[in-house]
Amino acid sequence: MEKRELLYEGKAKKVFKTDDPNLYIVQYKDDATAGNGAKRGTIRGKGVVNNLVTNHLMRMLEQKGIPTHYVKELSDTETLVKKVQIIPLEVIIRNVAAGSLAKRLGMEEGTKLSKTVLEYCYKDDALGDPMVNEYHIAALGVATPEELAQIAEYSMKINHELGEYLKSAGIELVDFKLEFGRDSEGKVILADEISPDTCRFWDVKTHAHLDKDLFRRDLGGEEEAYREVLHRLLGK
Ligand code: TMP
Repeated sequence: MEKRELLYEGKAKKVFKTDDPNLYIVQYKDDATAGNGAKRGTIRGKGVVNNLVTNHLMRMLEQKGIPTHYVKELSDTETLVKKVQIIPLEVIIRNVAAGSLAKRLGMEEGTKLSKTVLEYCYKDDALGDPMVNEYHIAALGVATPEELAQIAEYSMKINHELGEYLKSAGIELVDFKLEFGRDSEGKVILADEISPDTCRFWDVKTHAHLDKDLFRRDLGGEEEAYREVLHRLLGK
């Protein structure tokens, strides 16, 4: 499958058209941004880790009955995916208080949440991705109530399957962000990535960060942490 015209270049990925109108190629980059573009940098090897980890986790989720956009890994940084119409929502699932939730609700980071929390943000850079609820989503016409119910159901199932799987690798799934799209038949499927860029992964024993918070918070050691996630999940 050949890469054709560049369709889109984001902060961490490029998307190309292919000969097949229903398939795209995603290319992962080492570029990193935080705070809606306020901090910029590179994390060497990130593109490889995020590509391989995302594909590994999407294949696992497919086996558990979650439909995804994943088709085929083409190289260490490139993957063939189904074309989808992205639903402009960031779906955030939280098991442990951290990041913006800890700040907003005045909870200490690391406090286990007695109930899993599901949040939605409306993907709009100019607005700074504001948090929205089901009413806002319906009012904006971003997704139908049926699509949103499907998204919530998949997200909770993904949280369960991913949490169990990562635990076996000594990783605690603190929180993470998902994006969904509509495939050529209008069905909701999982898209985007599941990687240390989009999840908070903590070492089960030490609670050491194995994710992008090392970069966001200038803690250092992000290259090693990304490599560690790849090693724990794929043995590479
Ligand atoms: P937050 O605590 O900053 O709201 O982030 C919650 C989770 O969602 C965390 O695992 C990082 C991820 N996330 C993204 O992947 N992209 C984003 O734009 C945001 C705000 C969060």
